[in-house]
Amino acid sequence: MVNLMRILLVGGGGREHAIGEALVRDGAELYAVSKHRNPGLARLAKGYGLARETDVEKVLSYAEKFGVDMAFIGPEAPLERGIVEVFEEAGIPAVGPTREAAKLETDKAFARAFMERNGIPGRKAFRVFTDAKEMRSWIDDFGKPVVVKPIGLTGGKGVRVVGHQLKDNNEAKAYAEELIRRDGKVLVEERTDGVEFTFQVFSDGKKVIPMPLAQDYPHAYENDEGPITGGMGSYSCSKGLLPFVTKEDYEKAFETLKATVEAMRKEGTPYKGILYGQFMLSREGPVLIEYNARFGDPEAMNVLPLLRTPLTEIAEGIVDGSLRKAEFEGKATVVKYLAPRGYPVNPVRGVKVEVDERAVEETGARLYYASIDENLTLLGSRAIAVVGIAESIEEAEGIARSAIRHVKGELFYRRDVGTRESIERRIRAMRELGKDLEPNPC
Ligand code: GLY
Repeated sequence: MVNLMRILLVGGGGREHAIGEALVRDGAELYAVSKHRNPGLARLAKGYGLARETDVEKVLSYAEKFGVDMAFIGPEAPLERGIVEVFEEAGIPAVGPTREAAKLETDKAFARAFMERNGIPGRKAFRVFTDAKEMRSWIDDFGKPVVVKPIGLTGGKGVRVVGHQLKDNNEAKAYAEELIRRDGKVLVEERTDGVEFTFQVFSDGKKVIPMPLAQDYPHAYENDEGPITGGMGSYSCSKGLLPFVTKEDYEKAFETLKATVEAMRKEGTPYKGILYGQFMLSREGPVLIEYNARFGDPEAMNVLPLLRTPLTEIAEGIVDGSLRKAEFEGKATVVKYLAPRGYPVNPVRGVKVEVDERAVEETGARLYYASIDENLTLLGSRAIAVVGIAESIEEAEGIARSAIRHVKGELFYRRDVGTRESIERRIRAMRELGKDLEPNPC
């Protein structure tokens, strides 16, 4: 066991600001490396290195310069580059899965085949194609609406669904062919109808510890319209469930994640770190849409402020295989992201915004910086998040909304994140699918 931990945090988004805050709150001496200086992390960190997170050797050189005891990897891209193994070889344990284990996120064909061969619950029909003719005839025979996905990381973009971004299976075939030409292969899956939710767990390779459920709002505009983004906000409820997720569905989704960790261990690629299951709650129960090998962004900002168990203790437990518990305060949370006007298609960049941090603090909200530099100049992606935390979702949403008034500039946000009305829409959507539902309080 390490005593006072000097921890290097890799990544500079809102998710990482929340991770850094939790580590410092729990007594860590924080160092950070990211491609821009996140103003929030810069205040928390004793040292800051500038590097692309995927430049693993440069990140390691900062870790060695700062003399850290451990690293905490925020985003997925450095995991794909094998940052965890590189650090371990240099004698620095790192929180995050190895390159092989991170394939659950970084290689969607691997993830589907893994689920299939291990009988993981929450599966759906899929095929990976390298040949356009085979793909076309499979989609024709399949007959039902499909989803077309690139195999590798796309930063949340690139997935197209019939009935949403694609008109019909003919458009799906054309798009799948384009991906075969570009990437050499493509994943085609059956479409699952329902309501999505996020289930994040900690794992030390064996033990699996759940965090409160959250729901992300991926569309850019209100009423779930517009292009898909990294997530414009998210909410969570005080009892850890969501209004439309029954205890039984929760247990089924948890079973999927536990079976995943167990099968990864049996296959000789133990999964250590944060595992994020993106589920679609269908009429028949939760179906796994995608794995992510890290905290969600924004969902990290829902759960980390509620964490009662020190994150430093959890981090140690993950790396040395002794994870014991993770307890959370029973409160509702609402995260609202402010993004530059035009995001995600043609975002405003290079202009300054104003943040009255004192006034934000007076509202009781937390504020996390993301794609914005120390002069508060917009860098082109989601810039600032505010988080309301309260006994009820209404109060939490009200806190987030009042905090937003104190951030000014060429920004927009979704007013409907965490509102009662938007939550009701999701409950109605489940009922329309024929789900008999007595909503949980939020
Ligand atoms: N909020 C979606 C993600 O983190 O991938």
